[in-house]
Amino acid sequence: MSNINLNGKVVLVTGANRGIGLALVQKSLEKGASKVYATYRSEANRATLAELGERVVPIHLDLSDPATIEQLPKSVTSLDVLINNAGIFSGADLLEDTEVQLRNDLETNLFGTLSVTKALLSFLKKDSPTAVANLSSIAGLAAMPSFGGYSVSKAAVHSMTQSLRGKLKSDGISVHGVYPGPVATRMTESMEMDTTPATTVAERILEGIENGVEEVFPDAMSEQVGPLFLSSPKSLEENFAAF
Ligand SMILES: NC(=O)c1ccc[n+]([C@@H]2O[C@H](COP(=O)([O-])OP(=O)(O)OC[C@H]3O[C@@H](n4cnc5c(N)ncnc54)[C@H](OP(=O)(O)O)[C@@H]3O)[C@@H](O)[C@H]2O)c1
Repeated sequence: MSNINLNGKVVLVTGANRGIGLALVQKSLEKGASKVYATYRSEANRATLAELGERVVPIHLDLSDPATIEQLPKSVTSLDVLINNAGIFSGADLLEDTEVQLRNDLETNLFGTLSVTKALLSFLKKDSPTAVANLSSIAGLAAMPSFGGYSVSKAAVHSMTQSLRGKLKSDGISVHGVYPGPVATRMTESMEMDTTPATTVAERILEGIENGVEEVFPDAMSEQVGPLFLSSPKSLEENFAAF
């Protein structure tokens, strides 16, 4: 797998107006990206991104709205690194909650991410190395039963990442799976657990992409979970079941 130096490269980050996505935009700029396409869902968030400077190009995108995904290629002129960051956490319990929540998790986290990737693929097929990074979760490596809906959707992202890696290798596109533990963003603000700052996680994700790391474990918890998953998936399942 070829390494990619982000200096001078064009990056697109989905869900870029807050949390890990916003940190990814800021860190990409620090690394010298020539342009960062930064997607937002609500018009109120366009200004936040526009304030980051002229290298940032805000784009409206709602993963659950196919029309906005269809429009996406018209807003892009070139691309080296696609970071599929946007995602939702419904907290759905597979037995106690309705299927609607599970379907929502899948609609955004799996189908939205896949559709965005397909929409932008032609830009990534070029003579120099390019990359796609998908935000899964440690909950995508083994299920967390108390939020089974999210786990299903992030396991699907993990599997999709493996498929895309296999299919796109011959095109010179490296495909990275990112498996964070708890990160200090709005997604975790109601949970009582130790979290890692989004800026630290973003820095580690970009380092992983630059260094050709296929499975990126960008924080202290995922650094422990990752090797356990790779050596003994059953132990990880048992560990999370007791969580
Ligand atoms: N935080 C964690 O502990 C953690 C751990 C593991 C994995 N992750 C994953 O990391 C990614 C980023 O999470 P985060 O913690 O930064 O979450 P966050 O603060 O909740 O931000 C999520 C981002 O995704 C956007 N988004 C949600 N649904 C969307 C849709 N249908 N279309 C377009 N954009 C949409 C949000 O836009 P709005 O502002 O418009 O809602 C927001 O910009 C997610 O995929 C998440 O599952 C997070």
